[in-house]
Amino acid sequence: MGARRATAAVGLLSATLVIAACGDGGSGGSGNSATQDANARGPITFVTGKDNSGVLPFIADEWNRTHPDEKVTIKQQSDQADQQLSDLEQHFQAKDPGYDVVTVDVVWTAEFAAKGWITPLTGQNALDTTKLLPATVKSATYNGKLYAAPYGSDGGLLYYRTDLTKTAPTTWDQLIADCKDKTTKGTITGTKPACYAGQFAKYEGLTVNAAEAINATGGSVVGPDGRSATVDSAQSATGLDFLVNGFKDGYIPKEALGFQETQSLNAFEAGQLMFMRNWPYAVAILNGKGSKVAGKFAVAPLPGPSGHGASTLGGHNLGISTYSKHKASALDFLKFIESDAVQRNNLTVGTLAPVLTAMYSDPALIAKFTYLPDLLKSIQTGVPRPITPYYPGVTEAIETNAYAALQGRMTTHQALTNMQAAIKSATAGG
Ligand code: GLC
Repeated sequence: MGARRATAAVGLLSATLVIAACGDGGSGGSGNSATQDANARGPITFVTGKDNSGVLPFIADEWNRTHPDEKVTIKQQSDQADQQLSDLEQHFQAKDPGYDVVTVDVVWTAEFAAKGWITPLTGQNALDTTKLLPATVKSATYNGKLYAAPYGSDGGLLYYRTDLTKTAPTTWDQLIADCKDKTTKGTITGTKPACYAGQFAKYEGLTVNAAEAINATGGSVVGPDGRSATVDSAQSATGLDFLVNGFKDGYIPKEALGFQETQSLNAFEAGQLMFMRNWPYAVAILNGKGSKVAGKFAVAPLPGPSGHGASTLGGHNLGISTYSKHKASALDFLKFIESDAVQRNNLTVGTLAPVLTAMYSDPALIAKFTYLPDLLKSIQTGVPRPITPYYPGVTEAIETNAYAALQGRMTTHQALTNMQAAIKSATAGG
């Protein structure tokens, strides 16, 4: 389904965009005249994850209409976080001048900044952040400097089937109890829905989900400095056990071990899940054509052990590549994506979480998207993932060991002990 939607979006885009080969969007050279580049204008390429939400045609059309000499070409990557990252790393390593503006997941900011791959938004590149949600600005800041323009925030939400239960569970025990007699155990069969799924494949999304479970019980992955390992605790074990026991007891179907965002969304959309953890973008798709649950679901804050849990803070910001040859145009593009028009379109067309604070108290928007206050809370109380240039090693430590525990190949205790050691080793010296 993600792929089907994306094909439609690409079709639309190709009609409105300038055709330019990726990797050749600049004027050549290796980019040593920084000041000259900072003032240079011309066409730009915007590299971003697959547009499952259908918001890019508006962005491209609006920008191109108002910037005929600086048109944007959009390169859509896959919809998988890890593939997006490795694509960007390869192009940065090759100093590709054709990747002008790139979408930076909140957890990549530190690495990209420390490696000098994205331009600090200071001095003549400064960006006004006064109207933006503070959490999003923080997620784009490294060592006190802003490196990217907040584009879309992300807070986890619980999706639940209103035809199966009238109210959302606030605790994990309630969620499990609500599933009794209404769901099948252990696997997706097609007769009744399975109980619950999030994102449990071995990739960035598992780090998100595991950290959420761990934080909910008072555990933590890293300490207040945002990087030193603290994950090996009894509280973390209780948290991770919500997921481990889910697979053991059957309230999470075994198929979910292969779920990224798209697969969990597809299962919920096909009526195969009673509860799902996902990001806000799922609302628009689940209410769209072909969805079996359109009008039959609602969203609520994530449950926890004894009341609502806290989301892991997600989201994306736009950075200007150090190797861009048209940095002045790129900066204007960043300012454009903070505009009311773009942020409103992202919300109304794709139910993406805006970064403009005012949108969360706009009565017309709240009337249409009644969950906006819950979403705002999810973002404001969202727990950031570790902030370190060595994040790839840290997330690998979390994913690998959490995955082994979910598969039942390792005890929860062993997984957390290993996680702790691997996080320490990934950040040692840093
Ligand atoms: C969403 C979030 C992002 C996270 C990713 C994991 O895209 O916005 O922060 O890393 O999901 O799959």
